[in-house]
Amino acid sequence: MQVMTTAVRKAGRRMSRDFGEVENLQVSKKGPADFVTMADQRAEKILFEELSSARPGYGFLMEEGGTVDGTDRSHRWIIDPLDGTLNFIHAQPHFAISVALEREGELVAGVVFNPVTDELYHAEKGRGCYVNDRRLRVSERTVFQETVIGTGMPFFGKKGHAQFLKELHQIMPMTAGVRRNGAASLDLAWVAAGKLDGFWERNLQPWDVAAGIVLVREAGGFAGAIEGTGDVLETGNIVAGNEKVIAELREKLMKVAP
Ligand code: IPD
Ligand code: CA
Ligand code: CA
Repeated sequence: MQVMTTAVRKAGRRMSRDFGEVENLQVSKKGPADFVTMADQRAEKILFEELSSARPGYGFLMEEGGTVDGTDRSHRWIIDPLDGTLNFIHAQPHFAISVALEREGELVAGVVFNPVTDELYHAEKGRGCYVNDRRLRVSERTVFQETVIGTGMPFFGKKGHAQFLKELHQIMPMTAGVRRNGAASLDLAWVAAGKLDGFWERNLQPWDVAAGIVLVREAGGFAGAIEGTGDVLETGNIVAGNEKVIAELREKLMKVAP
């Protein structure tokens, strides 16, 4: 955990500075897209250097750099250096650095850090979930009509638009509100913190969800495949929440399953 938090804080310092720059650039016509790509890669480089020097031999799965096999076959870091890129580009302070550790194919630790709000969500298997020093629990809400549910909508270039609308049609009328906040790692962190009562999204990548899954589970919640079986890191279709909320979400989603 020490190794992970040191690495994300270092990458986060750089990213906050870059975010300040984006706030200046974002009004220009060309926009800050190229600059953001650089910020993204810079953060990943810092994470890669920090983690490989602290734990030589561990493997990596990174959004930008892909797979780097380590000599130690039982450990792998799963990294999204900037989750919530579109928010970042639009100067919206809701994005995070997400780092998870997998041991023998099992997720054992996760860190999700929003450097703007300085909220560092962290969890280790069997040790609970925290934001900074504060212990977290998932929400206890069980009346579905009172829940606030997070999701992710597909956008240009992504598949599943029609499917998403069917799902929204199932869920939206039955809740207090649905939110699309734009960073899957933080959506899961917010489920762990009880700020969202539940979350679902399809077609995510392992680096979007790996750390957040550990957070939710260690906060006493459930995070798994929409279908109920299978490895969510492979399917990319996730639901999260407390036991009751996740059951209701699954039931509604399976009614319109593709
Ligand atoms: C995206 C965010 C978003 C989700 C997208 C992801 P990125 O990650 O997590 O919330 O809806 O599917 O690709 O591109 O900002 O790292
Ligand atoms: Ca992502
Ligand atoms: Ca990313």
